[in-house]
Amino acid sequence: MAKGHFGLIGLGVMGENLVLNAERNGFSSVVYNRTPQKTEEFLAGRGSGKQIEGAYSLQEFVDKLERPRRILMMIKAGQAIDDTIASISPYLEQGDLLIDGGNSLYSDTERRVAELESRSFGYIGMGVSGGAKGALEGPSMMPGGTRQAYEDIRSLVERMAAKVDDGPCVTYIGPGGSGHFVKTVHNGIEYGVEQILAEAYDMMKRGAGIEPAVMADVLGQWNSMEELSSYLVEITEVCLRTRDPESGGPLTELILDVAGQKGTGLWTVISALEMGVAVPTIYESVNARVLSSLQAERVKAESVLHGPGPMTLDLGTPGNGMAPLRDASILSIMASYAQGIALLQEASRIHHYDLNIAGIAQIWKGGCIIRARLLQRIQDAYRQNGELPNLLLDPWFAEQVNRRLPGLRQAVSEAVRAGIPVPCFAASLNYIDSYRTARLPQNLVQAMRDCFGSHTYQRIDREGTFHTEWLS
Ligand code: 6PG
Repeated sequence: MAKGHFGLIGLGVMGENLVLNAERNGFSSVVYNRTPQKTEEFLAGRGSGKQIEGAYSLQEFVDKLERPRRILMMIKAGQAIDDTIASISPYLEQGDLLIDGGNSLYSDTERRVAELESRSFGYIGMGVSGGAKGALEGPSMMPGGTRQAYEDIRSLVERMAAKVDDGPCVTYIGPGGSGHFVKTVHNGIEYGVEQILAEAYDMMKRGAGIEPAVMADVLGQWNSMEELSSYLVEITEVCLRTRDPESGGPLTELILDVAGQKGTGLWTVISALEMGVAVPTIYESVNARVLSSLQAERVKAESVLHGPGPMTLDLGTPGNGMAPLRDASILSIMASYAQGIALLQEASRIHHYDLNIAGIAQIWKGGCIIRARLLQRIQDAYRQNGELPNLLLDPWFAEQVNRRLPGLRQAVSEAVRAGIPVPCFAASLNYIDSYRTARLPQNLVQAMRDCFGSHTYQRIDREGTFHTEWLS
C-alpha cells in the first residue's frame, strides 16, 4: 500500500470517527493505539474494507505515512500528550506535523507549539466539537498554531469539517494555544446554555407543574424561533420526550441530579478571572454543577433549611411558549455568548491571537455543540463592527434585550419568590443590569479601600489621584 495521507493516534470513539471521516473524504489513513488489540478490533470491524492500515509501533506508524506527516492525536489531555510527543518525536522529520485534537489546556498547547516549532516540527492545538456523531459526519474544528502548519492540514480539515451555506466549519484561529482557548470558551458557553435550559425546565416543573412531555412541546416551539433554534434546544426536547423503557415514565425524572464535568467550563472561568473579564453566567453554570454534586448533603439540608413551599408562579402558558421563561432563556443565552466573546477579545489582546470573532461565529454555525441560528446574527454583528465592545450593544441584540428584559426580570423574581434556584438567569439579569448602569456603587468601594488602606481614588469632577484622611 502507498504511504498514508493521514495518521491517527488513539482509537477512542472520537478518534475512530475522525479517521473514518478522513478516509471517507479521500485521505488514506494509518492508525495506532497503545493497546494493539484495539487496533486489531477496529481494523476487523468499523475500519475494514477501507483505506486504513494499522501500525503496532510508533516507528512503523511514522514509516507508513507520507511526508510531511500529518498526525492527529486523540488521546487524554495532560501528561499523555507530553508522553506521546516524547515517544514519537525521535521518529519524526523536519516539517512533520502533530495535531492535538483533544480538550487540552491552552497554556499547555502554548508550551508545546513553542517547543515543537523550535525543533522544526509543526504543532497544531485543535479544538474539535460535535461529539461522536459530529466527528464522523463533520465536526466544527478550531485549529491554532503557525499559519504554515495550518496550510499543511487545510485541505484535510476543510474536507472533514461540517459545512454550512457559506463554507466549512473550520478556519485558521491564530497562533499558539488559540485553537484550544477558543474551544475552551466554546465549552464555557455550552455549560451556560445547558444550565439555562435546566433552569427553564425546573421552573416549568416546580413553578408551573408542567409534565416533561408538555415541556418538550414548549421546547419544540422555542426551537422554531430564530433566537433559540439550536442543537442544544433540539436535544433538550428529545431528552424530555424520551421515556424509560421499563417504567414507561419520562426518563429525565429517573436520572440522578448530579452533573459531571471534565474541566473546560472551569478553565473558562479561571481564564476569565485571570484576564479580568466578567463571565457570571458561565461561572454560575460551573457553580451549579459543583453544588449539584453535593447530592447527599442537599437531601439532608432540605429537611433543615426551609423555603417558601410550593406555589404556582406567573410564567405564562405552554400555548404562549411560557413567555417569561422563553425570554429569560433567550437573554441568558445571549449573555453567555456576550461573555464568552468578551473573553475571546481580551485573550486575543493579551496573547496577540488576532482572533476574528466573525470567523469564529462562522465555524460555530455548524457541527459543534453550541451551533445555533443566533450565530448568524453574531457573525453579522462582528462583520459590521469588528471592535464591538459587547455583543449586546449591536443594534439587533440591543433591541432583543430591551424587548425581553421584562420577561427575564419576571422569571427571576418569580423564582426568587418561590425559592427555586436560577443562578444563570439571575447572573444574566445582573450582568445586563450592571452593564447598562452608567453609575454603579463602586464609588463607595473605592471610598472604603481608601479609608482603610490609603488605596486612593479618582474623582468625577477633576483629574488626578486622591487620598482622604477619612474620619473614623
Ligand atoms: C464538544 C464538547 C466536548 C466536551 C463535552 C464534555 O464540543 O463536542 O464540548 O468536547 O468534552 O461536552 O464536557 P463536560 O463533561 O465537561 O460537560
